[in-house]
Amino acid sequence: MTTSHVTTGTPATRIEAARLRGRDYLSELDFTAAEIHHLLDLAAELKQARRAGTETPRLTGRRIALIFEKNSTRTRCAFETAAADQGATTTYLGPDSSHLGHKESVADTARVLERMYDGIEYRGFAQQTVTELARHARVPVYNGLTDECHPTQSLCDVFTMREHSGRPLEEISFCYLGDARNNTARSLAVMGSLLGMDVRIAAPRALWPDPELVAECLPLSDRSGGTFTLTEEVEEAVAGADYLYTDVWVSMGEPAETWHERIAQLLPYQVNAKVLAATGNPDTAFLHCLPALHDSRTELGAELLAEYGLDALEVTDEVFESPASLVFEQAENRMHTIKAVLVATLGA
Ligand code: CP
Ligand code: NVA
Repeated sequence: MTTSHVTTGTPATRIEAARLRGRDYLSELDFTAAEIHHLLDLAAELKQARRAGTETPRLTGRRIALIFEKNSTRTRCAFETAAADQGATTTYLGPDSSHLGHKESVADTARVLERMYDGIEYRGFAQQTVTELARHARVPVYNGLTDECHPTQSLCDVFTMREHSGRPLEEISFCYLGDARNNTARSLAVMGSLLGMDVRIAAPRALWPDPELVAECLPLSDRSGGTFTLTEEVEEAVAGADYLYTDVWVSMGEPAETWHERIAQLLPYQVNAKVLAATGNPDTAFLHCLPALHDSRTELGAELLAEYGLDALEVTDEVFESPASLVFEQAENRMHTIKAVLVATLGA
């Protein structure tokens, strides 16, 4: 991968840009805080250029393989549209459309794809799979979600908070409520701690992130000047928060039987009008990586309504549809932030 052609930015950001060429993005800690800030600035430039109709393709002729072992709407579409805007092409390999895992190993798949592609995105189960792909492929590999983390999502999330508030990330607080062991929560905790944010997590103790993750976040937060709070108390956690964030209570790959226990554990952590009011902050905004179970107009929503009498799970329709909700702007930002990662790692 060439490191010589960098066109924009201050001397400091030029250094970050050069360093990002050819790099993998498997988890938040693959990048330094300065590199993340560079990506956020680049995403803002790319978003503005697309809106103004002045975007310059920097990925012309590049090819990106998209491996999805789990379903996706946003991540797949964000990679495909970001690549198309920048002149690159993509190949989608869905859960049943390649030999990966059935007849061909991760290592062999990596060594085949690197001969044909300039970058590989992977969404699946074990973090070890995406790590192994990266070990065997001499092209950048991007984690599009594993059971352990969702780093392109957390990049989008901090971008959205910075863009919406107009404030530096070090001055922003957010509270994640719900299953705090899942990929989205873990990624947000690490990203927020790395970037000096006021990170709060409200969850029942049984669904707290594992101690290894907490042990990773605390020193990051100390070094960056942020704060990290893990509590069972909703009111304490949300007080004054700039953003409330939640995610689905049962993640992809978890058995359907999990719903019963999860609903009992997490109903007190539902983001509803009462919780929004409990922030005491009239400007608190709502974020969600999506998809969200905010009504019963989906197959799963209807099933959960029939079985548990609940017409919303992690967030009520009232909050989801309220002016406080930024979820569709956030969804759009997946494209701008993923585009920044592609341009920074593969761009001319
Ligand atoms: N937020 C997110 O990753 O959405 P998809 O599952 O639709 O890609
Ligand atoms: N925690 C969710 C995130 C979906 C984008 C899941 O893994 O299903």
